[in-house]
Amino acid sequence: MNWYEPDRRPMPWKAERDPYLIWLSEIILQQTRVEQGLAYFEKFRTAYPTVHDLAAAPDTEVMKHWEGLGYYSRARNLLKAARLVSGEMGGIFPQSSAELLKLPGVGPYTAAAIASFAYDEPIPVLDGNVYRILSRYAGQATPIDTTAGKKLFTALAALAFDPEQPARYNQAIMDFGALVCKPKRADCANCPLSLSCVARAGDLVYDLPVKAKKLQRKTRYFHFLVARDETGRYLVQQRKSADIWRDLFQFPLFEIDHEDVLFDKLWFASTKDIPFQRNSFVLERSYPPRKQQLTHQTIIGYFHEGRIDSGIQLPTGYEWVSAAELGRLAFPKMIASFIADKSVFLDLFTLPPTE
Ligand code: ADE
Repeated sequence: MNWYEPDRRPMPWKAERDPYLIWLSEIILQQTRVEQGLAYFEKFRTAYPTVHDLAAAPDTEVMKHWEGLGYYSRARNLLKAARLVSGEMGGIFPQSSAELLKLPGVGPYTAAAIASFAYDEPIPVLDGNVYRILSRYAGQATPIDTTAGKKLFTALAALAFDPEQPARYNQAIMDFGALVCKPKRADCANCPLSLSCVARAGDLVYDLPVKAKKLQRKTRYFHFLVARDETGRYLVQQRKSADIWRDLFQFPLFEIDHEDVLFDKLWFASTKDIPFQRNSFVLERSYPPRKQQLTHQTIIGYFHEGRIDSGIQLPTGYEWVSAAELGRLAFPKMIASFIADKSVFLDLFTLPPTE
């Protein structure tokens, strides 16, 4: 608390008391670094100054604003919660952490953050930062992702907490985790707690905290068909299954489970049905692969561009969109950056068709 100075890390939601804006910032900051979240917070605050504005927004527009931030279930829950608060709750956010917890997308950490920041409810936050600080300071190697670990660190968090100044304390410990007790380059030399830190004394700073489960990642190979008809329209599809990127748009996709680049071999190795015949697509060129790292998966994405006959029978779930309309749809980051690169470097998406 003595270490904390609000201006060391200025953030627009720090002085904020409006529960709507605090909630918005905390949903954006789940699994997102503050530096990345800032621009999105400003974008949402400008587009939707009140919870009623957000509740009234079309789904596709909100998804488009969320584009690039990842974990899209957050955007879907954001809308669900906004509509609940704006409608059934008459625009008034729940007034306690226990009630906030009932909103879609609000877990124990987020409920505690909002309730302490907006209402001064005396409840400590427990997020990755706090687990790291507590496990190091107390020299506790109990894995944080186990029931025993959760119980232990919840108790330690309550001991460290200052119930007289909940908002200040919670903001302080988060800033301390981001600026001093950092995961990789902890600033022990300037840490006000270093003399009594057990991890520091035992040279265990980078051995803590401990996790029981190791992260397993699998690699998936996505091949997108950038299929353009003779009028310059592209075939797109909205992702609907309970897989990654639900509700985002994509070019027709085939997925295979191994690395390969020979187009015709790939086509027939696809694990999913491709919605049109091989001979209705004329391949013009394939682009170098792009890589996107998700928490549990590595996606390698290939883009194959070519011509397709507008006379094909449009498969269900697919639609034709003009190059200009592509800009209004929300795509996964890998596809959005492919489209952006093409528009900038080749102008292919903006020139009228030549044929
Ligand atoms: N991460 C999530 N919420 C935060 C906040 N209020 N300040 C800093 N980092 C955060």
